[in-house]
Amino acid sequence: MGRNDEMKLGVLLLPAGNHEGAWRDPGVPANGSVDIDYYASLAALAEGAAFHFVFLADTPSIFERNDVTIARSSRNDGLEPLTLLSALSGVAQSIGLVATATTTYHQPYHLARMFASLDHLSRGRAAWNIVTSGFKFEAENFGESSLPDHDARYARAREFVEIVTGLWDSWEDDAFVRDKRSGIFADIAKLHLLKYRGDHLSVRGPLNVARPPQGYPVLVQAGASDTGTTFAAEFAEVVFTAAPSLEEGRRSYATLKEKARALGREDDEVLVMPGIVPVVGRTKQEASEKLERLQSYVHIDVLTGVADRLLGFVTELRSMNLDSLVPESLPQTNLIQSRQKLLLDQAIRQKLTWRQLIRYISDSKGHLLVVGTPDEVADIMVDAFDQRAADGFNVMPAAFPGGLGDFVDLVVPELRRRGKFRSRYSGQTLRENLGLKRPINRFARQACAVAP
Ligand SMILES: Cc1cc2nc3c(=O)[nH]c(=O)nc-3n(C[C@H](O)[C@H](O)[C@H](O)COP(=O)(O)O)c2cc1C
Repeated sequence: MGRNDEMKLGVLLLPAGNHEGAWRDPGVPANGSVDIDYYASLAALAEGAAFHFVFLADTPSIFERNDVTIARSSRNDGLEPLTLLSALSGVAQSIGLVATATTTYHQPYHLARMFASLDHLSRGRAAWNIVTSGFKFEAENFGESSLPDHDARYARAREFVEIVTGLWDSWEDDAFVRDKRSGIFADIAKLHLLKYRGDHLSVRGPLNVARPPQGYPVLVQAGASDTGTTFAAEFAEVVFTAAPSLEEGRRSYATLKEKARALGREDDEVLVMPGIVPVVGRTKQEASEKLERLQSYVHIDVLTGVADRLLGFVTELRSMNLDSLVPESLPQTNLIQSRQKLLLDQAIRQKLTWRQLIRYISDSKGHLLVVGTPDEVADIMVDAFDQRAADGFNVMPAAFPGGLGDFVDLVVPELRRRGKFRSRYSGQTLRENLGLKRPINRFARQACAVAP
């Protein structure tokens, strides 16, 4: 299937669901966040529908500091993505496994090794969501009092990715001959030292694991600031975006593809996948009632806690008159800049009060929120796909497992009926399933280029 036929689909596995109130819903297991069987059942549901991947978000810190919010939030209890996906790799056989890991507080050698290992464990289904830390409470877990500046975070991220991919190229694909007769395990002519020295990071190499089955695990990125999209255009093969409307989706899609083209990359080498929060009912009324029920579970302290995080603590929400309009001029902070801007722009355009804005954030996090029938949800997805606002979607069910079950049972058949989604896996590796090329080892390529 070419780009015009096949929509890509991934699912964000947030234990209870994307909605802040989900964990209190009677249909959602309250202890799911640390239960491997629960995650395995969600991955099986997505795999049964031939989703391209499951995606695990991550932040190496808790999300809130305020005790009253911590007491009521389900977000501070979850499993580390690489560990969890390693366990899932043995259970799920076909679906891709996307783990988030920050370049700000990891070391590249460790991460290169862990992702190479996940790619071997899963026989070529690993992907790395490359993030620069943007949440306030991470720094203090790593001996710092505050996050590095936004641009400095991306400067380190750039070096980090060059090192990690360089380490994955340490060994050519056939370097380990493992020849018992001659006693030669590795062909050292096919071993390459990285010897990277940068402003932020220096790594000698080589990596102590064979080249990953996919060459490189798929590179995913989700930065949306100007620096973030430039970085994505250069390195990412899948880009997660937050686009609350078709117009915003078309705009961010065009920006990313143009930036990638300017760097000599083809459109189908960079897949843009906005988030969608589908709340599906057999009737519109039923869908609206589902969302209202979830909203009824969320305490005001949780609403303000989540809004603080996604608005980058732009203001003192707790002392604010929540029924006043969100003002037009607020300072940009050093945290997640793009989401802060997207949400504030949305509030100003729609003349929202703070109370309306924080409710909107809890419902959607700034992603495309669609509350309706399977037909309506499919219409919006197909429209976004056909109008080049998306190559596919990062599905973010409001509540698990019901929200994913509804999507699989009701929306996926609609997408298939319209010829936009497949019914089985087309390849073994995630790259094959996404239609992405396997990267050639840079050292082997250089050697070919200089050979007479
Ligand atoms: C769908 C989606 C998922 C994301 N997941 C994470 C995550 O798990 N952890 C994280 O630290 N940032 C996450 N981000 C944030 C970005 O990856 C990025 O690092 C952040 O937006 C800062 O860069 P920016 O200012 O260029 O946007 C996510 C963004 C999107 C759109």
